[in-house]
Amino acid sequence: MKRYLIATIICATISTVCCCDVVKLTFPSGFSLGTGSAAYQVEGAWNVSDKGENVWDYYVHNHPEIIADGSNGDVACNSYYKYKEDVALIKSTGFDFYRFSVSWSRVLPTGFANVISEDGLQYYKNLTAELVANGIEPIVTLYHWDHPQVIEEMGGWTNELIVDWFVAYARILFEALGDSVKRWVTINEPDSICGDGYESTRLAPGKIITDIGKYLCGHNVIKAHAKTYRMYEEEFRDRQGGVIGIVLPVSGYLPYNSSYEDAADTAFQFNCGWMAHPLYFGDYPEIMKTRVALVSESQGYPRSRLPEFSDEWKAIINGTNDYLGINHYTSRFVYNDPDEELGIYNSDSGLLMTVDSSWPVATSSWLYVYPEGFGYMLRKVRDEYNNPSTWVMENGYSGADNLEDYDRINYFYEYLKEMLIAVKRDGCNVEGYGVWSILDNFEWADGYTNRFGIIRVEFDDADTNRTTKLSQAWWKKVLSKRKLQSVPTPTTNTNTRTGLPWQK
Ligand code: NOJ
Repeated sequence: MKRYLIATIICATISTVCCCDVVKLTFPSGFSLGTGSAAYQVEGAWNVSDKGENVWDYYVHNHPEIIADGSNGDVACNSYYKYKEDVALIKSTGFDFYRFSVSWSRVLPTGFANVISEDGLQYYKNLTAELVANGIEPIVTLYHWDHPQVIEEMGGWTNELIVDWFVAYARILFEALGDSVKRWVTINEPDSICGDGYESTRLAPGKIITDIGKYLCGHNVIKAHAKTYRMYEEEFRDRQGGVIGIVLPVSGYLPYNSSYEDAADTAFQFNCGWMAHPLYFGDYPEIMKTRVALVSESQGYPRSRLPEFSDEWKAIINGTNDYLGINHYTSRFVYNDPDEELGIYNSDSGLLMTVDSSWPVATSSWLYVYPEGFGYMLRKVRDEYNNPSTWVMENGYSGADNLEDYDRINYFYEYLKEMLIAVKRDGCNVEGYGVWSILDNFEWADGYTNRFGIIRVEFDDADTNRTTKLSQAWWKKVLSKRKLQSVPTPTTNTNTRTGLPWQK
C-alpha cells in the first residue's frame, strides 16, 4: 500500500518521459509470462472415446446459424492429438506458463462424478506432464464455458445444484493433477457465460431469460467458486500447496469527462465488482444492490432481481480468492444515461458507454484499442481490493488471417508498456501476464473469422498445420531479454491501419 503511494507521489512530480525511464520496460524479476487456451476452442476430438456432449457441442450442432462462419469446434486446432507440438511451440517461444482448461464432459461423460473417463483424465495428465517435463508451469482452468449438456438440461448455471456438481468435478481434478498444478482457476469470465449465455444467444446455452438469468447464474457461479475454494482448503491445500482464483473480464471504464467519475466507478462495480466484491468482502457492491433493487421496483418486480446471500453464505464466500485473474482487452468511456432524469430506467447500471473515434478497432467488433485504459483499470483494482495479487490471464488482439501481424505486435507493445508502468511506477501487484492466445482458435460465435493467435492454424487443412506469425518472433525476443522490444516497421501487412496515434 505504502509502496505504491510513495511511487505515485514521486512520479506525479516528474514527467511521463521520466517515468518511462524509471520504468525501463523490463519485467520485474520473478514476473511470470505465459500464454493460454480453452478446451473447446482448441482441443477438437469432440466425440472421441467416451466424452460426453457439452453445451457448446450441442449449441453449434443445433444452431450453426449463430456462428459467423457456420463452423464449430469439432476439430478446432486438433490439440487433443497435437498437444506435444503445442507444448514444443510454447517452449520454443520461451513462455513460463501455459493456462489450459479442462473439458468437464471429457472427464465426466455423464456430467456427474459417478463415471470418470480414464481416457479423458489421461489426456490432461499427459498434457500436464508434458508441460512440466519442458519446464513450463501448468495453470489449469476448471471451467471455460463448456459444461455438460445434461446439466444444462436441468437449468445449468441457473440451478443451484450445479454448485455441488461443480465441487465434485473439481475434487477429481485436484486429486488427479494437483501434485503438479499449483495455480488453479475455478471459472473463466462468469460475466460472459452469465450475460451472453443466459440473457442472449451470443454464447451457449443461448437462453434468453430476460432480467433474471444473468444474476441467477452469477449467484451460483460465486457459490461454486467459493465452495470449491473451501473444499481445496480443507482437503488439498496442506499437501498440494496450490492457489485458487477466479478470472474476470475487466475492461477499462473511464469517465467520459470529469463529471462522470462516479459513473466510471459504477461501471467497474457492475463489471469487476459483481464477482470480486463478494470474494473479497462477502457481498455484492452496495451500488449494485441499490441500483438493481431500484430498477427492479420500477419494473414491477416484488423484490430485487439481484439475489441475496444468506449470512452463512457470506461467511463461506468472504476471502476465497488467493489471486485475482483478469482478462483485459478493451476500454470504454462511461456517462450517465440522461433518460434517468425523466424517470426512465433503461438498464440496471443506468450508464451509457462510448469509445473515442481515434481508437482503432480489431477484427472483433468490441475490441477497441486503448492501452491507457489497461493501466487505469489496474490502478482501480489496486485501490478497490487492497492491492491484491493480480494475474492478467488474457490480453490480446484479433486480426485477419495473416502472418505479418504488426497490429498485434503494436497492441502488445503498448498494452505491456501500460502494465509495466502500473506495476513499476504505481506499485500494482501484478505478478503474471498471459498472451491470448498461443494459437488461432475457435472464437466462439465469431467462429474462425477472428484470429487471436501468435501462431497461425490452417483450419481448412486436415493436418491443422501451425505456422508462427511475426508476433511469435517478437514475443520470443521479449521473453529471452525479459524486456519490451521495439516494434518492427510494417511492410506488407494487409491488416495495418495507417496513421494510428498508437503506432510507433
Ligand atoms: C475471453 C475468453 O476467455 C476467451 O475464450 C476468448 O477467446 C477471448 N476473450 C477473446 O474473445
